Amino acid sequence: MTTTPKRVRTTSLKEFKDAGEKFTCLTSYDHLTAGIFDEVGIDVLLVGDSAADNVLGYTTTLPITVAEMIPFGRAVASAAKRALVVIDMPFGSYEGGVSDAIQNAVELIKKTGAAAVKLEGGARVSAQIKALTEAGIPVMGHLGFTPQSVNALGGFKIQGRGESAESLIADALAVEAAGAFAVVFEMVPADLATQISKQLTIPTIGIGAGNGTDGQILVWTDFAGLSSQKPRKFVKRFANIRENLATAAKEYKREVSTKEFPTAEHSFEG
Ligand code: KIV
Repeated sequence: MTTTPKRVRTTSLKEFKDAGEKFTCLTSYDHLTAGIFDEVGIDVLLVGDSAADNVLGYTTTLPITVAEMIPFGRAVASAAKRALVVIDMPFGSYEGGVSDAIQNAVELIKKTGAAAVKLEGGARVSAQIKALTEAGIPVMGHLGFTPQSVNALGGFKIQGRGESAESLIADALAVEAAGAFAVVFEMVPADLATQISKQLTIPTIGIGAGNGTDGQILVWTDFAGLSSQKPRKFVKRFANIRENLATAAKEYKREVSTKEFPTAEHSFEG
């Protein structure tokens, strides 16, 4: 008899933190990978706006829209039996203020079945985090290197080094005070991320933030080696899907051109 695994909720992440149990997160943009990650027990599936560069071929996450995020969200949420599904609010969908944020988050949640949204920024978006939380939409924060601010930050740079550590801590406290249930730290020195993780009561999730956060996330196309780009320092490739796929495609091309495939085994009789 198969039993349905207990669903991971936003509150479960705090339980993991309090129990000292490190939890796992991956991005996912489609039904098949979401199903695999869910089956093996990845706790959180993030429908990241990194779908912009990883699926849609944009060069940054800035162009992706709420409408473009929705099919990815629906595909992932419909595959997840256990994992908590969180969807990114794309650039431009919450910066305008509380009413924009609520309208767009409601649309994302209603049309995808995700359980929570993620948005980037600290004190500057605390009003949006508070309003969404009060409206019953759980919010995950995102601090440190925030890809939607790549232009303002002057490129892919580590955040929180030296004197800027203080403002990162202040932002983390602001996100927590506004009601976020968890917060991602991207490209932050490991000792600072560890210190903030101890200081906050909400769970922290690291990507390029060392080993002292409460959870860990990677972009799935990076961790599985599908991406063609040189991996950043914080990425470990756990598979080489790109090479495997290329080998398979080459073999398919060879067998079709030499008429080895399809054989009788792959054909129908009349
Ligand atoms: O969109 C994304 O992939 C993310 C991760 C980098 C956390 O926000």
